Amino acid sequence: MGLLSLFNKEIAMDLGTANSIVIYNDQVVIDEPSIVAYDRNTGEIKAVGKEAQLMEGRTDQRNLETIRPLKGGVIADYEMAQHLIRRLIGMTTISRSFMPPSLKMVICIPSGITNVEERAVREAAEQAGAKEIRMIHEPMAAAVGIGIDVLEPFGHMIVDIGGGTAEIAVISLGGIVCNNSIRVAGDVFNQNVVDYMHKHHNMVIGIPTAERVKIAVGSAVSELEDPPEDFPCKGRDMMTGLPKEVTINYKEMQHALDKSITQIEQAILDTLAQTPPELAADIYKTGIYLAGGGALLRGLDERISSKTKLQVHIAEDPLRAVARGTGIALKNFNRYQFLIK
Ligand SMILES: Nc1ncnc2c1ncn2[C@@H]1O[C@H](COP(=O)(O)OP(=O)(O)OP(=O)(O)O)[C@@H](O)[C@H]1O
Ligand SMILES: [Mg+2]
Repeated sequence: MGLLSLFNKEIAMDLGTANSIVIYNDQVVIDEPSIVAYDRNTGEIKAVGKEAQLMEGRTDQRNLETIRPLKGGVIADYEMAQHLIRRLIGMTTISRSFMPPSLKMVICIPSGITNVEERAVREAAEQAGAKEIRMIHEPMAAAVGIGIDVLEPFGHMIVDIGGGTAEIAVISLGGIVCNNSIRVAGDVFNQNVVDYMHKHHNMVIGIPTAERVKIAVGSAVSELEDPPEDFPCKGRDMMTGLPKEVTINYKEMQHALDKSITQIEQAILDTLAQTPPELAADIYKTGIYLAGGGALLRGLDERISSKTKLQVHIAEDPLRAVARGTGIALKNFNRYQFLIK
């Protein structure tokens, strides 16, 4: 890295509820879970990202605590979000403690964010050392990341299902024409799995286990052509208090996630119903684009397709589409500057 690039740093950040990604020089340089581990007594930060994730659900009750500073796509714990951003930026520099004097950041934000929530993101980034901060709406960034020409006079529908929010947006001529953002996404799916295990198997499991079950055997449909192998789910028996294991199949997961998926489907239908007719005609031709980690849920594309009677495409590397788009917008700042505020 030359001296100039050290002093003039431009980074794009997708500060997500579940994962945070940093793009620098067109490359994903950081991809870490948005988790901070800290000492409750001293406030000292012990770890962030993957290292903190290993401690999640396994901390002693006295000192160490893990926290996810974002909830529902927005900052829930301001101070911890600041530490997270600062550490993530720190991981990108050669000298960990060195903060470049002119750090410019483009951060993506949910389309349904309030002014107060937006200010919290801006201030957390400022406190973490950014000198110039710009924002781009997540569905717009996702569309750019997918490779859609967002500036053309043509309607496209993007559905980004992350950890905290499902964002649905119709984009045309560089603007979001109509959108819907609901706080039903991966985190709610995980809670659905916890509740299901409790109700149907008399078993208590932690959120990290629920997430493993969801990824291993999660399904949006009750018939899969290529079903995953059943998953041995471990937790604590509610009756005996002893550790136990239950084998879970994808049909059970379809049952567990069904209500939440129906809510996302309904939000998509509502957005389609608000879409101006010319743009609806465009979407009829091109279909719906799915991004975010939720797009990886088995059978979700098929289920949304049969509900809307539209083609559904899953973005390439859906977990990184938003970050990629944010990076492209930063790199081609002149072309995309009116998408960025
Ligand atoms: N194979 C998979 N099947 C189902 N869900 C998955 C899979 N892989 C990842 N996920 C889920 O995707 C979610 C994370 O997605 P993503 O990184 O897009 O969210 P985020 O950007 O951090 O959140 P948000 O945009 O809501 O702030 C997590 O809830 C994770 O469990
Ligand atoms: Mg996201």
